[in-house]
Parts: sequence; structure tokens; C-alpha cells
Amino acid sequence: MSHLARRTNEHHEPWSVTVGRRSSETARVSTKMLWFLVFSVWLLAVCESTACPCERPELCEPIRPQRSFEVFVFDVGGKTWKSYNWSMVTTVAAFGKYDAELMCHAHSKGARVVLKGDVPLSYIVDQSNRTAWIREKVDLAKSQFMDGINIDIEQAVEKGSPEYHALSDLVKETTEAFHRDIPGSQVSFDVAWSPKCVDKRCYDYVTIAESCDLLFVMSYDEQSQIAGDCIAMANAPLSQTLRAYDDYLDLKIDPKKLVMGVPWYGYDYPCVNLSQEGICYIDKVPFRGAPCSDAAGRQKPYKWIMKQMNSSSSGRMWDDEQKAPYFYYKDQKGEVHQVWYDDPQSICPKANSVRAKGLRGVGMWNGNILDYGDEPAAREQAALMWNALLGC
Ligand SMILES: *[C@@H]1O[C@H](CO)[C@@H](O)[C@H](O)[C@H]1NC(C)=O
Ligand SMILES: *[C@@H]1O[C@H](CO)[C@@H](O)[C@H](O)[C@H]1NC(C)=O
Ligand SMILES: *[C@@H]1O[C@H](CO)[C@@H](O)[C@H](O)[C@H]1NC(C)=O
Ligand SMILES: *[C@@H]1O[C@H](CO)[C@@H](O)[C@H](O)[C@H]1NC(C)=O
Repeated sequence: MSHLARRTNEHHEPWSVTVGRRSSETARVSTKMLWFLVFSVWLLAVCESTACPCERPELCEPIRPQRSFEVFVFDVGGKTWKSYNWSMVTTVAAFGKYDAELMCHAHSKGARVVLKGDVPLSYIVDQSNRTAWIREKVDLAKSQFMDGINIDIEQAVEKGSPEYHALSDLVKETTEAFHRDIPGSQVSFDVAWSPKCVDKRCYDYVTIAESCDLLFVMSYDEQSQIAGDCIAMANAPLSQTLRAYDDYLDLKIDPKKLVMGVPWYGYDYPCVNLSQEGICYIDKVPFRGAPCSDAAGRQKPYKWIMKQMNSSSSGRMWDDEQKAPYFYYKDQKGEVHQVWYDDPQSICPKANSVRAKGLRGVGMWNGNILDYGDEPAAREQAALMWNALLGC
């Protein structure tokens, strides 16, 4: 945006100087010249604002067809998108730096690329501020040949507050603006794993779901508010994860508005002590009213987890209650860590229930964190993670 504006101005400056100097020649020539120059500047401006970076200009067209099953990928930057399984990807939410090559590639595969949308809610309670924010996002999406926006507002909101209503209005007005200005575009909204005021996100989920194309349900970070013992647990235990979808559906939210988000990362918890039964007690780190939380651990990508597991003391273990894998390792200081994560075995039953519950599709946070190296073991591992998204 600012880049385009600056370049247009730069073209204006030298031209006006030239016109000034030429005016000492005959008036007719300089008038003709002036019009020619004005035309040139206009042409440059038009070409610059619409220049398609793709090999074929039609790849800059927004994606229109709706596919019945969504595979929604968050991309956080870099070039590992080249290794995605593009036969299944339908939407890429570009959370990294804008990458025109990614946009062209996604479009060549019929996949949408959408912006990230985040704004402090206190700013958009004001209607004209809200309208300005939406206008800016639509213009940005258009200038980058993108196909919508993923609204990622993870802020605490009190039910009935001005922010509560402003958020619903923001989603509705954003959807209207995108659908009007970019035909076929998609507006999605990220929600917590449960609609029950998780992390104090007391949003009007029903209105928000009705007002946009889909909700991306972040079925992870489910230990962000630990009520009982402060112990390490699975990022997304199976039964708790699935029960929360029933909670969304009980609100009469259309299942076709829900995309299940699974984690491609896990948590590495240093254990302050380890019980004989293998329970890892963790530091007390409060979060939004709860005495402890997963913030006592560190998020780790699947790629790191697989390497660490290989050199762990325990090897891969399976918790049959939470239906999730975990392992132990000792760090250089001799401190024991417990690592909880998701792998194809824990993702498969979740993905199966996407079909069983008739949801819109599946997705992950995030697409970049597998090992996309050339070694056969890495390739196999990445393929299994992608394929697990479709169930088993
Ligand atoms: C409007 O948004 C700006 C940031 O873009 C913010 O600084 C300002 O406080 C907002 N105004 C109102 C009235 O909320
Ligand atoms: C481990 O720590 C927890 C919490 O600090 C404490 O309640 C528990 O008794 C400790 N267990 C052992 C085996 O030391
Ligand atoms: C784990 O270790 C084995 C043998 O040491 C090796 O063949 C395999 O590639 C390793 N896997 C990963 C993910 O590092
Ligand atoms: C990509 O996904 C498709 C299913 O859409 C599957 O048939 C194919 O084997 C996958 N490709 C790889 C390399 O795993």
C-alpha cells in the first residue's frame, strides 16, 4: 500500500520539472507534451496498481469455486509452502510477510490466499474507525490479489460490553465488504476450542458464525486455564476436543460453518517434580483468572518434537485417557521435561469426527512446522501428517 503510493509520487516529481523547462519552447508543443506526460503518469499509475506478479495474468483473479471440503492452512512465512500437499489445500491464511509467489502458486492450485486481520477491539467500537479498518483491509487484499481475510482476534471480551457488540459488527461488515468488492472471497473467524468463555473470550458466537463464511476452531491450547492440579497434559485431549464441537453445534451453529483446527505443535514442560506415576508437576503460571496454564511450557514444532523424541529417555508413550502421545527427556542441566504433542495417531480420530459431524473441513496451526527435508524418513513423516487430516 504505502509502497505503491510512494512510487507513484516519485514518478510525479521529475516529470513536473521537465514540463517546466520545456515551457520555454512553443506553447503548442508544450501543451501536447503536457497531455502526453499526464497520460503517461496516469498509465504508469494504473499499470503499477494492477501489475500481476504471476506468470499468467489469470492467476491474479480471485478464486471463485467453493469446494465442499476445506483444508485450511495457516502459513507463517518462509518457503516451506512449496512442500505442502497442494492437492488438498483449499485456503492459505498468510500470517507471514506477503509472498506473491505463494499467492500465484496457491491460485494455480485453486486455493485461496487470505489476509490476517487483527485490531485492538477498543479501536473499532467507533463506527467510522471500524469502517476505515475494513476499507484498508479490502484495499490491501485487492492490491495483493488475495481472496479474503482471516480475522484473528483472540482478545478477552465481556458479554454485553461495547466490544462484544463491536466485534459482531466488525465480522458482519467485513464479510459484506469483502463479498461485495472481491467476488468469491472468504471471510473466516478464529474461535477458541470451546464456546464457553474460554480465556475470557465471551463472544456472540452465534451471530459471528452467521455473519461470516466459516469459523476456524482452534482445537488446541486446551490447557490455557488449568483448574485442578498444575500438571502437564495433552494440548488437545480427544474427548474434551470433541465435546466442545457438540457445544458449538448445540448453539445451533451450522456444522458447515465449522473447520476443525488441529495442532502441528506440542508443549515442552519442564517438570518441577515428577511423581512415581509419571505425573509432571509444572510451574504455576496464571492466565485470565486460572491459577496455572500451558504457559509454563514452551510451544515446539512437530519437526523439533520428532528429533527430540528420538533422543528421549522414554521414547514415544501413549496416554490412553487423553488419546495423545508424550515422552520424557532430560535437558543439559539434568532437569526432566515432559513433552505432549499430536501425531497421526492422535489426529486421525479427530479428523474422522470432522466427517462424522458433517463439519466444513479441517486445518492446522501451522503448515510450516513439519520437517520438509529431503530425507526419506522426513518425507514419510510429513506425508503421514498431511494425510491424517483426511482421517483414517
Ligand atoms: C481509532 O483507531 C486508532 C488507531 O487506528 C486509535 O488510536 C483511536 O483511538 C481510535 N479512535 C476511537 C474513537 O476509538
Ligand atoms: C510436586 O509438586 C506439587 C506442586 O508443587 C506438590 O503438590 C507435590 O506434593 C509434589 N510431589 C512430589 C512427589 O514431590
Ligand atoms: C531417529 O533415529 C533413527 C536411528 O538413529 C534415524 O534413522 C531416524 O531418521 C531418526 N528420526 C528422526 C525423525 O530424527
Ligand atoms: C496428497 O494428498 C492426496 C489426497 O488429497 C493423497 O492422495 C496424496 O498421496 C498426497 N500426497 C503425498 C505426497 O502424500
